[in-house]
Amino acid sequence: MSEPEYRPGLADVPVAESSISFIDGRRARLEYRGIAVETLARESTFEETSWLLLKGELPTQKELAVFDSQLKEHRRLKYKLVDMIKCMPESGHPMAALQAAVAGLGMFYPARDVTNSKTNWESVIRLIAKLPTIVAAFHRLRHGDDAIPPREDLSHAANFYWMLFGREPSTAVARVLDACLVLHAEHQMNASTFSARVTGSTLADPYSVVAAAVGTLSGPLHGGANEEVLDMLEEIGEPAKAAGWLEHAVATKKKIMGMGHRVYKVKDPRATVLQELAEHVFAESGKPARYDLALQLESAAVKILGPKGIYPNVDFFSGIIYEALGIPRDLFTPIFAIARVTGWLSHWLEQLRNNRIFRPEQIFTGVNDKPYLPIDQRP
Ligand code: COA
Repeated sequence: MSEPEYRPGLADVPVAESSISFIDGRRARLEYRGIAVETLARESTFEETSWLLLKGELPTQKELAVFDSQLKEHRRLKYKLVDMIKCMPESGHPMAALQAAVAGLGMFYPARDVTNSKTNWESVIRLIAKLPTIVAAFHRLRHGDDAIPPREDLSHAANFYWMLFGREPSTAVARVLDACLVLHAEHQMNASTFSARVTGSTLADPYSVVAAAVGTLSGPLHGGANEEVLDMLEEIGEPAKAAGWLEHAVATKKKIMGMGHRVYKVKDPRATVLQELAEHVFAESGKPARYDLALQLESAAVKILGPKGIYPNVDFFSGIIYEALGIPRDLFTPIFAIARVTGWLSHWLEQLRNNRIFRPEQIFTGVNDKPYLPIDQRP
């Protein structure tokens, strides 16, 4: 029998059948359940988009009202979980705090019977509702401030901002933050979603599924890239240096953060919408020098890397927006997780409906039948 073909990174290998989202990487098209993501970012809300992703259809008014009130009702954290977060080292990365706290949630809300659709839905609500509270609580507690309890009169996005800063966002800022959540909510079979599906395929509980996905998202080749974009822009310094810096980086085979994508070979449609949103934020906060620098870098990259199909991805502009909103850099990836949890859970539910445990093959490159040499005879 011939050896199966090995595709590093599982590139182009389907690992599931899914009806959740669709990408056409050459036409810059991303759809959630058939609806263009640009339309959802402009017309919908994170709450409504979450229902769409989880259930497959847009909600009715009544369905949305119930879902929204359930999310609001479950925002609070048990005091023991807050105590657990208080004990975490303040120098630790918020993604590590989030991963640990999500795993901890699973101890407070046992949900090990994943054949029970009622508890599964309750877990979905709890996870989406509580992730922002965990992130905001860790951020405040690490600075010695008290955690701010969630409010039930604010949207998901506005309440997160409230818990972070203790002040309400303006309508424009709340809208931008909400649209950022919509744009990050789902993206087909990316690494963290695959991780969620692999963990879900073992019939692990949903808290373990999300904790696994959070860990996968934390890497710089995935969610961590938006933090690194700002480090990179800082290193470049000023717009006039962008082209020279890029030429040198490409010549020395350096990866440009926030550029390139396994699927998109044109500019990521989410990057285009984020750029529009950035303009709204800057109308309030003033245009940061970093934005001009990013635009210079983008136009240099289009010439040098464009022919290879490497263009800005979603992370290129998201960090600049978050920074303009006053959000600390190490919270960028946790915000990605607050949004993507909806996608992970949609895939988890889909995986459970037609589950088979993931157990891929390998190409063995080691040796066989090696004798065991006693330690005194080894060279
Ligand atoms: N900067 C410079 N070159 C890049 C690049 C980037 N950001 N992304 C890809 N390339 C080049 C690679 O060097 C490689 O060139 P080669 O064929 O000459 O060796 C080629 O394009 C293919 O890259 P590869 O890393 O194999 O693509 P991939 O599909 O495995 O990786 C990413 C996709 C996203 C991991 C990759 O583009 C990347 O590391 N980007 C930066 C991190 C980032 O922004 N991640 C967020 C994704 S939303």
